[in-house]
Amino acid sequence: MKFVNPLVVASGVLGVTGASLKFVVENGAGGVTSKSIWLKEHKGHKNPVIIANEHYMLNAVGLPDAGIEKARLELGKYMDNKPAPLIANIVAARVDDFGEVAEKVSELNPDIIEVNISCPNVESEFGKPFACSRADAAGVTKIVKSRTKIPITVKLSPNVENLVEIAKAVVDAGADGLTLINTIGPGMAIDLDMRSPILANKVGGVSGPAIKPIAVKCVYDVHKALPNTPIIGTGGITTGEDAIEIIMAGATLVGVGTAVYYRDVECFRLIAEEMSAWCDAHGVKNLSEIRGVAVIK
Ligand code: DHB
Repeated sequence: MKFVNPLVVASGVLGVTGASLKFVVENGAGGVTSKSIWLKEHKGHKNPVIIANEHYMLNAVGLPDAGIEKARLELGKYMDNKPAPLIANIVAARVDDFGEVAEKVSELNPDIIEVNISCPNVESEFGKPFACSRADAAGVTKIVKSRTKIPITVKLSPNVENLVEIAKAVVDAGADGLTLINTIGPGMAIDLDMRSPILANKVGGVSGPAIKPIAVKCVYDVHKALPNTPIIGTGGITTGEDAIEIIMAGATLVGVGTAVYYRDVECFRLIAEEMSAWCDAHGVKNLSEIRGVAVIK
């Protein structure tokens, strides 16, 4: 699979309409990820759903989505004259629904299906994410693999005791790749004047620059244990040097999400240029020269 650069917009950011996905590519992304698609319409949380400061973003949007039929219309518009590879992200509350939504989204022929089993914000609705248990994570992976021929990547949570064990279980169950990591936490921020949590959901997933060291370590640990499994490394990547860093930990593609808040949509072009400048300055001609290099040493 060819990407003009390794930067893909992470799920949840500018990924709802065909036009917004194309806009991201026009701004320099090498590939795009859709927002999580449910089988049926799913309502999100009440506002406020996002807050941010210079260190982090906290969000509990609650995975709102109009369902697979509407998503197929929008992603279909993207697939007409597709400007870059599409990663279709899917989510479900029940194992069987993952299979059904995977089968339906496959009719669009996306390049990759990303399976979101790690959203921290719908726990009150559905209980612990599937990514918290080896058996649940493997069960979802198996059913998705049985219903599609498209390569799949499973998006895992850093909020577990042993990420490597979960990653191994998912790869044994047939995952072609892994996306590391979903947001951290959940976390909370309190408004001092209101004397109450700021988000309507009270808690939300933490993303942005503060989580980059955790993302880098998760990618490093999993790449060390599973060196042949491609990883989409994501979590706080904001600059070209951040992207190089997570590639040195073992990432193949690099997800960029919250950086859009800090640097606007042109962050994709800027990060790609910064990566090129770093490679030129360090005599790196191909990213394969540095991929996972920190793990080997
Ligand atoms: C949401 C979903 C996620 O997967 C995540 O990490 C954070 C927030 C959401 O839609 O609320």
